[in-house]
Amino acid sequence: MVFEVLTKKMDDKYSETIVLSYYEGFTEADISVPVKEAADMIKHLLNEEEFSGKYNEIQSFKLTRKDNPKKVILLGLGKKEEVDIEKVRRIFAKGIKEAINLKTKAVDVYPINTTSELSLSQVTRAMTEGLILGSYKFDKYIKDKKENPVKSICVVGANPDEIVDIDKGVVEGNILSKATILARDMVNEPANVLTPAKLAAIAEKTGKESGFEVEILKEDKIQELEMEAFMAVGRASENRPRLIVMRYFGDKKNKKEIIGLVGKGLTYDSGGLCIKSKDGMVNMKSDMGGAASVIGAMEAIARKKLKVNVIAVVAACENLISGYSYRTGDIIGSMAGKTIFIGSTDAEGRLTLADAIHYIIEKENATKILDIATLTGGAIVTLGSTATVVVSNDDEFYKALESASRITGEKIWRMPIFDEYKELLKSKVADLTNSAGNPQAITAALFVGEFVQDKPWIHMDIAGTAFTSKSSEYIAEGGTGVGVRTIYEMVKEISK
Ligand code: BES
Ligand code: MN
Ligand code: ZN
Repeated sequence: MVFEVLTKKMDDKYSETIVLSYYEGFTEADISVPVKEAADMIKHLLNEEEFSGKYNEIQSFKLTRKDNPKKVILLGLGKKEEVDIEKVRRIFAKGIKEAINLKTKAVDVYPINTTSELSLSQVTRAMTEGLILGSYKFDKYIKDKKENPVKSICVVGANPDEIVDIDKGVVEGNILSKATILARDMVNEPANVLTPAKLAAIAEKTGKESGFEVEILKEDKIQELEMEAFMAVGRASENRPRLIVMRYFGDKKNKKEIIGLVGKGLTYDSGGLCIKSKDGMVNMKSDMGGAASVIGAMEAIARKKLKVNVIAVVAACENLISGYSYRTGDIIGSMAGKTIFIGSTDAEGRLTLADAIHYIIEKENATKILDIATLTGGAIVTLGSTATVVVSNDDEFYKALESASRITGEKIWRMPIFDEYKELLKSKVADLTNSAGNPQAITAALFVGEFVQDKPWIHMDIAGTAFTSKSSEYIAEGGTGVGVRTIYEMVKEISK
């Protein structure tokens, strides 16, 4: 279940559980809880040094009363001068997990005291993201599953002008959490269910519900467009490719700028004839993580009605093996006209991205390009699951992503473009080779960069960050939905 956080005025209709948060070093004077039993207990815990507000500290207790609130959860925010939005997101994610453990049905959350760095709407947005994303898990295929007992979450405001700011943050937090969960669900869906056609159908439904236009191109049209590189990758699978085009025009008067988003959409990557090992293949349903990110971002952009024009393209297909497989040693064409030597059938993502990028520039008139892809094992070697590898040819465009990433807590790190790396893309028999060697994440990025013409361009390699086998505060095992919030935030920044 994806639920929405609501806003409510402070009144005497408490919910079953209240969540309160305190900075480290809080005193009895800071405990402004109207319920006397709760206030007494917090004082007691403070004096007994059982709860002091240190970051990550969490305490809960039940009250001996018939009326609500019956349970209290205390969260430690740490030192006031050290608090930031990511900490808020994480601690409230822990808070909701505690509420679930306590089998709570309804929760009232009180916003934290703001600081000069953190506005009330920023705080409530981060809280909302933590609360919703922290309770996510992918269990639709488990018959005997534990239902989430929490059915309602309210953020409580004391006075009317507070409510306006709280509401602003909660609304944006709801939109972004829902979009992130949409992306997580798509990544978690196995490849026998989530085929290219199914991915296209989800994009279509999302567009209808949130307000952007979707066009699905089938094979005849893809052929007509001469997307030979894309076609080569999808050739062996019975699940035929789809080109998914999503258009959102929130700023119709602006004819100058269309932001182009391209997401890698391999619904499965077996490696092709260069077959992966069993361990290397087992999670390759996640190879459409980039596509999931751009579909999720489009949903959030459209629902928030950002004043900006954005087009997103996904070249969706499956990299399998059959008598029709493309081979190593093949020389294939591309929509841009460049020929490509196939050094590895497992370096398939860059082939699909090359055609999708050429398409979005030539046919959709995109003026700036951001591509996002689970592109290389090299990205995992480089930055692990902590941060996304980024390559960009434009400092200003990159800056917008960087400041977005600071707001969302999704870490990125920029890799260099050196001529020596570009040299590695050369082939003796074709214009380019698709397996250019080390450093993998950079050479793969620069291959993609060969197709962006002179446009400002950002490349995000999310191979390490799109899927995780280790959960953290607001990220469950499986698809993470990385990129959704950061792309939204970057687009919002540009739209200002
Ligand atoms: N989809 C993979 C990259 C990947 C690996 C994503 C692990 C997530 C986790 C990509 O298509 C791939 O196979 N890349 C090759 C490139 C090589 C053949 C040049 C790789 O990283 O080994
Ligand atoms: Mn591959
Ligand atoms: Zn792949």
